[in-house]
Amino acid sequence: MALKDDIKKLLEQVGDLKAANAEELEALRIKYLSKKGEITALFNEFRNVPNDQKRELGQLLNQLRQQAETRISDLREQINEKCQQSNDKLDLTRTPDPITLGTRHPLSLVREEIIDIFSRIGFTVAEGPEVEDDKHVYGMLNFAPEHPARDMQDTFFIEKEIGVQKPTDVLLRSHTSSVQTRVMTSQKPPIRVLCPGRVYRNEAISARAHCFFHQVEGLYIDKNVSFADLREALLYFSKEMFGADTKIRLRPSYFPFTEPSAEMDISCNICGGKGCSFCKGTGWVEILGCGMVDPNVLEACGIDSKLYSGFAFGMGVERITNLKYRVKDLRLFSENDVRFLKQFESC
Ligand code: DAH
Repeated sequence: MALKDDIKKLLEQVGDLKAANAEELEALRIKYLSKKGEITALFNEFRNVPNDQKRELGQLLNQLRQQAETRISDLREQINEKCQQSNDKLDLTRTPDPITLGTRHPLSLVREEIIDIFSRIGFTVAEGPEVEDDKHVYGMLNFAPEHPARDMQDTFFIEKEIGVQKPTDVLLRSHTSSVQTRVMTSQKPPIRVLCPGRVYRNEAISARAHCFFHQVEGLYIDKNVSFADLREALLYFSKEMFGADTKIRLRPSYFPFTEPSAEMDISCNICGGKGCSFCKGTGWVEILGCGMVDPNVLEACGIDSKLYSGFAFGMGVERITNLKYRVKDLRLFSENDVRFLKQFESC
């Protein structure tokens, strides 16, 4: 009855099989139930058992296999449950998933760089509303009542009546020069502010024009501010922004709110001033408008133009960004295509 003893011995063993993990459990399965396992070996021996013992030993063997299978499947359940629990908890030994950082929008990077450069010479930031009135966007800035900039082609007028204002008085600002008038009417000189913000114009959207874009306006009002101060400030800015070799050139121009007015070019930072397709062979690219604040504007804002003078300038952030990063199509700035956006500095 050696077989019966063997079966009984194994029956005792399988009742308390233990496994700490999936590997140990698999080792047990192989030890007892695989083709070469101990229980399978007993089944092989069973073939030689005399007929009169077959019934009893067969039942015992089946019971043994059943118990081993049940024990192993119970252990498997326990191990799976333990794994699940530890997955639910924080496992500090696990390799972390890579963290994908967002990136700064190129226009934000450039706007902040502009602000940073001017803040080093004492400029602070002032903001004003995007939904404005005619007075602050045009009237106080010396635009004649029939000036074409007010025309429907340029300005988005808001038809809905807001408060007590006439419907045609309310508009989306078409330049950040409007913030000048708000600052000058609420602060006393000396004033040294930068006004960054979004502006709107009724333009057909294309690679080179958009119905909204961004500007940074600068304003400096004090006693004895001269055109030479304006030139120095802009030269300093251009060198900081585009490199120490950058040259500037001021060309006479006209803006209603400055007298004299100028447009400023910088030496083309793509070809270094030699002439290329970007600067159309001239070696220069225009980046901003500027001038001495017109005395009419100072007076309209309640500043004594005999005592104070000042300069102002305004630049397009998209234009500066194009020069820095060579973005050829303006529409990319507002399409939120991550393939474009992720090329810039990460947060
Ligand atoms: N507001 C002008 C524009 O949108 C830009 C500008 C030109 C601003 C000359 C100024 C300036 O302050 O002096 O085209």
